[in-house]
Amino acid sequence: MKALVLSGGKGTRLKPLTNTMAKQLVPVANRPVLFYALDQAREAGITDLGIIISPETGEWVKEAVGDGANWQARVTFIPQLAPAGLAHAVKTAQDFLGDSPFLMLLGDNIIQGGIGQFVQEFHRTAPAAYVLLKEVPDARLFGVAELDSTGRVVSLVEKPKEPKSNLALVGAYLFTPRIHDAISQIKPSWRGELEITDAIQRLLDMGEDVRSHVLEGWWLDTGKKDDLLEANRVVLDDYLRRQIDGEVDATSQVAGRVEIRKGARIINSTIRGPVSIAEDCQIVNSFIGPFTSIGARTVIEDSVVEHSVILDDCVIKQVARLADSIIGKSAKVIRDEQTCKAIRLFIGDDARIEL
Ligand code: G1P
Repeated sequence: MKALVLSGGKGTRLKPLTNTMAKQLVPVANRPVLFYALDQAREAGITDLGIIISPETGEWVKEAVGDGANWQARVTFIPQLAPAGLAHAVKTAQDFLGDSPFLMLLGDNIIQGGIGQFVQEFHRTAPAAYVLLKEVPDARLFGVAELDSTGRVVSLVEKPKEPKSNLALVGAYLFTPRIHDAISQIKPSWRGELEITDAIQRLLDMGEDVRSHVLEGWWLDTGKKDDLLEANRVVLDDYLRRQIDGEVDATSQVAGRVEIRKGARIINSTIRGPVSIAEDCQIVNSFIGPFTSIGARTVIEDSVVEHSVILDDCVIKQVARLADSIIGKSAKVIRDEQTCKAIRLFIGDDARIEL
């Protein structure tokens, strides 16, 4: 069994963060979201991992993942020259996949509890394909499955205007090599992509067995701003453990599940978990509230920050309350006492300010 992890694309929906980083490297609880997908493949017992990368962000992904030693896995990077769809990614990876069955994961999705049990179920029941589904409020934004009364997949449609169910395809699929035949028979969709949804529908048309499982736990897709904050909240809430490797001075308080990594210094501040503070941060005279992640080397002084994701090398000073925010790498948010009636901004492309 091999795994194909998709880490290409342009990340348009997460601009401006994705001007300087791959969308799959955006951190969730201070770890690139892609790493959770690699963990999930590895926990399912798969050690041969192919990672699809794009010309725009591929070098960053390669640098972050390295040779795969952190996952005790063999990693092969597979360039996809254009973001031409999930089925196109499988086609691009055909040499790597050979005639092996495989798990396909979207590199910016996380599934609660991982996928080990579904890989086992796939081996046991041996269908041509096995998909994971989740009930969603607006199925028009996803690939949608229609099931019969026994739970078998009857039809699949990508982003239907009138969905036949509220069951979305989530970013994890299991395939036998039959999928390659199906992909060779489909045409690009209205959005110009070779859709994996259409390829699985083709399998059904060919009379193949496609099975599914409806997830009960959470499924996170970090592709958009609010989803990223939600992912950060859920992962901190579910996975974070208290671990203090940095320095906390005598006038500071650290309550609950808080991670303070090496080299970070907390001075005269209160940290209320769950919170992750990365390497070499400085938090001075501040309050850091629940569901916040702060990236490496960021400095926060005289401020209150809650329910936010702050990336590496930022400076935040004298901000009375920063909440529900995502702050990109090396950004500075500083309130100037003298000019506090005016707002002075120096903002990059695609930034969004809510005042
Ligand atoms: C893709 C798939 C879609 C699936 C979704 C899950 O959509 O095409 O079927 O439901 O991922 O995140 P996209 O992110 O390309 O819009």
